[in-house]
Amino acid sequence: MIDWNEFGFDTRAVRAGQVRTQEDEHSEAIFPTSSFVFKSAAEAAAIFAHKQEGNIYSRFTNPTVRTFEERLASLEGGERCIATASGMAAIFSTCLGLLKAGDHIVASKSIFGSTVILLTNILAKFDIKTTFVDLENLDSWEAAIQDNTKLLFLETPSNPLMALVDISVVAELAHKYNCLLAVDNCLCTPALQKPLSLGADIVIHSATKYIDGQGRCLGGAIVGSEELVGKDIFAVLRSGGPSMSPFNAWVFLKGLETLNLRMQKHCENANILAHWLEQQEAVERVYYPGLASHPQYELAKKQQSNFGGLLSFEVKGGQVAAWRLMDSTKIMSITANLGDTKTTITHPASTTHGRLTPEQRADSGISDGLVRISVGLEDIEDLKADLKLIV
Ligand SMILES: Cc1ncc(COP(=O)(O)O)c(C=O)c1O
Repeated sequence: MIDWNEFGFDTRAVRAGQVRTQEDEHSEAIFPTSSFVFKSAAEAAAIFAHKQEGNIYSRFTNPTVRTFEERLASLEGGERCIATASGMAAIFSTCLGLLKAGDHIVASKSIFGSTVILLTNILAKFDIKTTFVDLENLDSWEAAIQDNTKLLFLETPSNPLMALVDISVVAELAHKYNCLLAVDNCLCTPALQKPLSLGADIVIHSATKYIDGQGRCLGGAIVGSEELVGKDIFAVLRSGGPSMSPFNAWVFLKGLETLNLRMQKHCENANILAHWLEQQEAVERVYYPGLASHPQYELAKKQQSNFGGLLSFEVKGGQVAAWRLMDSTKIMSITANLGDTKTTITHPASTTHGRLTPEQRADSGISDGLVRISVGLEDIEDLKADLKLIV
């Protein structure tokens, strides 16, 4: 067995986790099978009783999914990864695996809209309550921690406002109060940021985004220690069933192979577009960590190896102007997904964050004039030309 930790990031992205079958295939094999057969009744009994290793059923383990899990674990620097059917399934499974009724979560206000709904409407039914705090305000994190707080949850940079927090500081805070820190690393991916190396306990992904990179499949992942991820969270997957399909795992494996290359180009295009948008009269404000005007520009340079492919900006004229701009684009796709080679344009207030109350939206800084762009890999001059910014 090769110890992939001895190799560089790009080598691991291309090769870690692969186990060839007796057919000696070069590209990873897909195993589209629900169950696995045993050589004898005795072997079946031994594997079911955990006395012998082996696959039983693809809800528990599948070789293609395992290859994806091992590759992503290696890239994030974690002992264990569990792949899930979607990013939301990863967040839900993490909460169900690590928490019980009566526990409390402290989460950033600036997290994905469905995560807010999951924490407030769904987990609250199981008596798991959440206090939301300002991502950047470290005092508010500490003030919100209660005796029953078990988990701190954040996204950095946040979607869609690209706010950051120092992961190492929040991790220290979490551990001071015997809590765990989970970081949704969907926007940066391990190509730009490695939360576990900064002290986080769990890394969560929507693989649907940059890991796929071409907007094809839904998937998610949880990375962390064998103790947390391999036991408590895997138990939820095994019996709860939010597992990743082998075909999707194969697509994500191929995505990981080009992840770093794509991320660098996404970052380059987004950086150019953000600087250009800042010069446009019709634009009130641009949110991108690679701009010197970004309040956490210095933290972004320290914590991330590049600034990311997502940016948001406020157009003058509120929702009417934002919708007019989106409707006038010819290349950009009006769709809520992000992390695709194709540039996508979204109005968060009426889509991804539309289920939040106006107060929750205002509190999270999602204004009616806000437009989010996931900058793709098209020619940057074509993208600029596609944005008809009218004052
Ligand atoms: C930051 C972030 N986390 C999680 C999710 C949820 O992922 P999925 O759509 O794969 O369930 C999303 C989806 O947009 C996201 O942007």
